[in-house]
Amino acid sequence: MDLCIIGSGYVGLVSGACFAEVGHHVVCVDNDQRKVDALQAGKIPIYEPGLEDLVHRNVAAKRLRFTNSIQDGVDSSQVVFIAVPTPPQVDGSVDLTYIERVAREIAGVLKPGEYRVVVDKSTVPVKTGEKVADTIRRYNKGAEFDVVSNPEFLREGCAVPDLMNPDRVVIGSASQKATDLMKQVYEPFRAPILVTDVNSAELIKHAANSFLSLKISYINAVAAICEASGADVEMVADGIGMDKRIGRNFLNAGLGYGGSCFPKDVKAFIAISKQLGTPFKLLEEVERINAAQLNRFIDKVRNALWVLKDKQIAVWGLTFKPDTDDVRNSVAIELVNKLVAEGAHVTAYDPKGAEKAVEWKLIDPTKVKLAPTPLDAVKDAEALILATEWKEFSNVDFAEVKQSMHTPLVFDGRNLFDPETMAQFGFTYHAVGRAGGK
Ligand code: UDX
Repeated sequence: MDLCIIGSGYVGLVSGACFAEVGHHVVCVDNDQRKVDALQAGKIPIYEPGLEDLVHRNVAAKRLRFTNSIQDGVDSSQVVFIAVPTPPQVDGSVDLTYIERVAREIAGVLKPGEYRVVVDKSTVPVKTGEKVADTIRRYNKGAEFDVVSNPEFLREGCAVPDLMNPDRVVIGSASQKATDLMKQVYEPFRAPILVTDVNSAELIKHAANSFLSLKISYINAVAAICEASGADVEMVADGIGMDKRIGRNFLNAGLGYGGSCFPKDVKAFIAISKQLGTPFKLLEEVERINAAQLNRFIDKVRNALWVLKDKQIAVWGLTFKPDTDDVRNSVAIELVNKLVAEGAHVTAYDPKGAEKAVEWKLIDPTKVKLAPTPLDAVKDAEALILATEWKEFSNVDFAEVKQSMHTPLVFDGRNLFDPETMAQFGFTYHAVGRAGGK
């Protein structure tokens, strides 16, 4: 099929490449000419395992191309996906100006007699589909189209496998013609397809992300109880996770959830529920626990070091999770900045995220030293904090780490290391919600 994706960010670019990989012809549209130029020159603006090869292969096979022209994209496609940002506003509600602008732009290029399915892939509040349809109708009275909601559930760091092998595909549609076309788009993925009305599909995305955030805050609250009682949150998570109704996934205690989705989506769902007159107070508690989790962790570091001012602290990890270079809303960065604000001397190492953290001015390189390797970061450190659970941190030579450090004190913010192994190496080891983690 011929598909167009408007917005070549995370969701748009990875979706475009995966649609091309299964045989569709895809045009990715972006209004940022520099991004289009870079993509046309084979440069991928984000780090995502497997993405570069996928893009290069499909561009070479002439199934994937990039343009800045919506006209070009819409003219040459049966299905037009909208994948532009929906950032939060100050009050937590969603800023829909990019969506509205794209709806007008699509209206401006739709030709009479040429039916198109317009698909909302961006995360939007319930009832946005109705507004997109109204807008297109207002700016193009003769347009023949249907608006469909098709939320994206990919996780950064494993976006390609998530898209190639989705747990489910949700299609919110009020038109059989549009549903049939959408089923054709997804047929090659052989994934379970759930067809709903448009409003339900939109709600599924916010409800799913809020539920996952709730799971994380739940286990983090349990971790606090474990620390107070001497229990071990890893064992507790295993024990409750073996109940199939609960499941072990997303019960990893740590520094709390971050990233470009969960914090924003929980806030948005709270705002949406308020606007609809049905406030979802449970989610306010989810946010409170998440914020408290980092502070509790910093308290732990402070308790051990007594005073943070002038202490040499190594931090491993800056990205919001492993296998990505994304540092947006990263708890690791918040941690670094809080330590610096208290006068600590922080040396940080991250396999992929350091450059963007500086480029996006999330850390100040005159205040935070960036090390080229994990071992360089721990030199003379009075404490090591693991903030993001990159796999390579498990493979570091801990005998060398211990030798390099001024004091063998480790705070594991993601429960990556084994407490017994750390003890064998001679570290004083603190984790989250684990025996000895107080
Ligand atoms: C998330 C959703 O998983 C995805 O379906 C949606 O489309 C976009 O948002 P992503 O933001 O890429 O994906 O990250 P995810 O792997 O879900 O992790 C989010 C945050 O939660 C990270 O900061 C991670 O460290 C934290 N987390 C996750 C935990 O603290 N504990 C867990 O058990 C799982």
